[in-house]
Amino acid sequence: MKGKIIFISGSTDGIGKQAALELAKQGAYIIIHGRNEDKTMKTVDFIKSESKNKNVDFVLADMSSFQQIRSMSEALHERYEKIDVLVNNAGAQIHEFQNSEDGYELSFAVNHLAYFLTTSLLLDLVAKSEYKRIVIVSSGMHFRVEKLDFDVLDGKTEYNLYNNYAHSKVANIMFSYKLSRLLKDTGVTVNCLHPGLVNTNLNPRRPQHIVDRAIPVEEGNISTMRLVTDPELKRVTGKYFTSDGTEVESSPATYNLDDQEKLWSLCEEYIGEKFPKFPS
Ligand SMILES: NC(=O)c1ccc[n+]([C@@H]2O[C@H](COP(=O)([O-])OP(=O)(O)OC[C@H]3O[C@@H](n4cnc5c(N)ncnc54)[C@H](OP(=O)(O)O)[C@@H]3O)[C@@H](O)[C@H]2O)c1
Repeated sequence: MKGKIIFISGSTDGIGKQAALELAKQGAYIIIHGRNEDKTMKTVDFIKSESKNKNVDFVLADMSSFQQIRSMSEALHERYEKIDVLVNNAGAQIHEFQNSEDGYELSFAVNHLAYFLTTSLLLDLVAKSEYKRIVIVSSGMHFRVEKLDFDVLDGKTEYNLYNNYAHSKVANIMFSYKLSRLLKDTGVTVNCLHPGLVNTNLNPRRPQHIVDRAIPVEEGNISTMRLVTDPELKRVTGKYFTSDGTEVESSPATYNLDDQEKLWSLCEEYIGEKFPKFPS
């Protein structure tokens, strides 16, 4: 991965931080993304010293804010001609109903609208690279959803941490599938994954029996690392991978084309702009 420029959202902790470390050790040029400057700087220092790789940059943005995502994209465009891999990873399990500053249910905003907006803003930089990979971190929790309920995404139903989170993760997969079709003749690949049940800060209130089953973050990175690095996946796009890095089917709900289209239009409406056409 020497010299490849890799942006990982949510790389100040958990799976994203571990991926950043492993990729830095392989010689990649890493762009850490965080929302807290102090934590982000500490992460940059940690990765530089552990990997012995000085090529570690950072950007800041709270992913619940469209304005901050846009400013982050401007900073990246000022600094970089291209990005080889965009990893959409930042995510949260949110315990109480809240709206984002833009007025959307917070888990939908952070876990999905941020992926959609970040990808739309950075697609031109990925397209300019040789490597051209977009990786989307979803979750096996999406299997809980039998059919995407847009009222859940809109925060119109009674808030439930797991149901709302699972819906946002279905949205990730649907986005990944539709985007891969749009980009199929461009060389840009889009794949999504479940990292496994991993011992991270995603939900500090996880019940003990779940914590007991969770794997350490060093083992919870297999699918992310495969999608970023495996040369065999150069032309593979529009697929879902499970925690051991194998390609599997996602839930039937995620393949619903009408819902994929409806979700796409909804996201465009919410971010207030059309997803860009692939640069010719
Ligand atoms: N852990 C699991 O068992 C598991 C299972 C399936 C899927 N996943 C997915 O894996 C991804 C990574 O999660 P993780 O388990 O590594 O969790 P984590 O340890 O809590 O890390 C989440 C990362 O996202 C960042 N983040 C959260 N909310 C943000 C916001 N509003 N703005 C900017 N950054 C924000 C966090 O920043 P801070 O450092 O500032 O908090 C952190 O860097 C998520 O998409 C999650 O849904 C995890």
